[in-house]
Amino acid sequence: MLTHPALSVFKPLPLAERLFVRARLFSAPLDLLAQHAKGTRMLDVGCGHGLLCSMLALGFPDRFVVGIDPDPKKIDWARRSVGKLGNTRFDVMTVERLASLEPGTYDTITVADVLYLLPTSDWPDFLAACRQLLKKGGRLLLKEAEDDGGWRTRKALLQEQVMVRLLGRTKGSGAVGFSKRETTRALLERAGFSVAETISLSQGSTTPHVLFVAECR
Ligand SMILES: C[S@@+](CC[C@H](N)C(=O)[O-])C[C@H]1O[C@@H](n2cnc3c(N)ncnc32)[C@H](O)[C@@H]1O
Repeated sequence: MLTHPALSVFKPLPLAERLFVRARLFSAPLDLLAQHAKGTRMLDVGCGHGLLCSMLALGFPDRFVVGIDPDPKKIDWARRSVGKLGNTRFDVMTVERLASLEPGTYDTITVADVLYLLPTSDWPDFLAACRQLLKKGGRLLLKEAEDDGGWRTRKALLQEQVMVRLLGRTKGSGAVGFSKRETTRALLERAGFSVAETISLSQGSTTPHVLFVAECR
């Protein structure tokens, strides 16, 4: 995949940021995640530059896509690119704060490669906030790299430690670590979700991607 329609909106950004977004497109199966979205009100938690938001919003004028991230730099890049689409909004915001402002608002919430930045002890509050933001019957699409005990996990962990601790490219939230899929599933169930599907997306990739399709119980 040399190009993708979702990249078109990033043209106003400096070259370094455009290259970063392009690298992200090739390294994470965000397209597959976007294909599982449903409804018209969507929230991407930890949206970064907004690549997934671009996939969700571009060509879907009936949808409204909100992206939040605690990193003001990322939200600035997102506003200057995907934010130019009329059906998006970007806020510097935590999921817990948004849950108190907009409960029961969203049909789909996406979380792509964010939870690994938080200690597992913080996951229940994070997932509870997602649950609170969803409409009845809403869907959470959670994509993480998993701890499968293999070389892919060790490679991905090293890569993320460089991004967070050495380069400061990714804003950390107290941890860098992957969980076993059973642990993530159990935490989702405990937060009030039914895990409808657990999809391994690691084939052909050097990262052990896994997608959880979770419905509000
Ligand atoms: C690896 S990037 C993924 C960005 C985007 N989801 C994507 O798939 O391209 C992780 C993002 O999570 C954000 N982040 C860090 N701590 C967070 C938290 N506690 N809640 C939400 N997002 C967080 C970072 O600022 C960063 O933009």
